[in-house]
Amino acid sequence: MESVTVVDGEATKSAEPSGVMNEALFYQLVEAAIAAPSAENRHHIRFRRCSDSIEIIPDDTFLTDAPARHALYQMAVGAMVENIVITLAAEGSGASVQWHELADDRPVATVTIAERAGDLAATAALQAFIAQRCTNRTLRYSGQAMPAEQRTTLAQDAASPHCKVVWMDSRRLRSALMRVATLAERERYLSAELHSELYKDIRFDLGWRVGAEEGLAPATLGIEPLLRPVFKLLRHWKLIQVLNLFGMAYVLGFRAAKMPLLLAPDICVLTCDRTVTTCFFEAGRTLQRLWLAATRAGLSVQPFAASALYGLPGYPGVAEHLQRRIAEAWQAIAGEGVPVMVLRLGHARPPLQRALRPSPDRFVSR
Ligand SMILES: Cc1cc2nc3c(=O)[nH]c(=O)nc-3n(C[C@H](O)[C@H](O)[C@H](O)COP(=O)(O)O)c2cc1C
Repeated sequence: MESVTVVDGEATKSAEPSGVMNEALFYQLVEAAIAAPSAENRHHIRFRRCSDSIEIIPDDTFLTDAPARHALYQMAVGAMVENIVITLAAEGSGASVQWHELADDRPVATVTIAERAGDLAATAALQAFIAQRCTNRTLRYSGQAMPAEQRTTLAQDAASPHCKVVWMDSRRLRSALMRVATLAERERYLSAELHSELYKDIRFDLGWRVGAEEGLAPATLGIEPLLRPVFKLLRHWKLIQVLNLFGMAYVLGFRAAKMPLLLAPDICVLTCDRTVTTCFFEAGRTLQRLWLAATRAGLSVQPFAASALYGLPGYPGVAEHLQRRIAEAWQAIAGEGVPVMVLRLGHARPPLQRALRPSPDRFVSR
């Protein structure tokens, strides 16, 4: 991938640096960046301060994991970059973003303080919601679907040049989406590798009351009290294999995807142009802008990544025939665009606990 520079959404050849990255600003940006969502609540990066920029450098897991899983890390980096750009805008500065190829001890993204380009007010206004945003896995989302104009505005404001927000606003689209999402969530209980990926980051050691700085605290998972012991037992793959003889994976796929989506007033899919090498970074920026704007509107959000990811060739643990089936199902929903994330939105009880973050120091490269 060639280095690609973007200033306020417009690609440019060069952007004049126009600010100093002092330590206080750097820490402010790191704090904003790590408040962004990440798969399994783990940021696989560190930050380096340069004279007028902040660099995001991949850790060993990011560097060595299967290429199909890079989509997850790149989306998380995109969301962090969006938080950095928003925080700079709130400080009155423009930003120039560069994406780079993956390489040892080299940044995957650089955000440089740039000439103030255009009106930053709309971007800056999202800053207040960076700390408020969280994943809400409460089963029942309620309320009416948003008015069409609100959906259109949210989608337009969040879209990047190569990533769109597509609302599932017809019965046909919703049903097709629920089928493919349920198929993917069910697979997490049919494939040993996907099952291990799901459970390895759940911090059962913490009990059901507290949050986790890294990994997924059970208290953030929105599991009903009566189901908690069952959910915990299901970490044993041998037990799942026995229960699957009685159709357990179907029940779990239904609970994990079909039910929450069925109960959600609004569902959207982020789709990308995969011919563009930076598409997952851009998707991360779109994800974060949409999520922050939804938070501002008082809406809860939950992402569902499995159905999009398992349609990508080579995702570890996904059999080829299933990948093809999922990719075909998506064609009927997303057309040309390649799906990267499903989101449900609506009004909901706040989660029992929110994911926490380690101290920013933990991510700073010395
Ligand atoms: C790329 C990506 C994929 C994610 N996939 C899922 C998912 O499939 N299901 C889910 O409930 N949350 C998913 N999340 C949400 C994360 O688990 C969440 O952001 C993380 O635990 C931190 O919690 P917070 O969003 O409340 O800060 C995903 C987040 C990202 C960035």
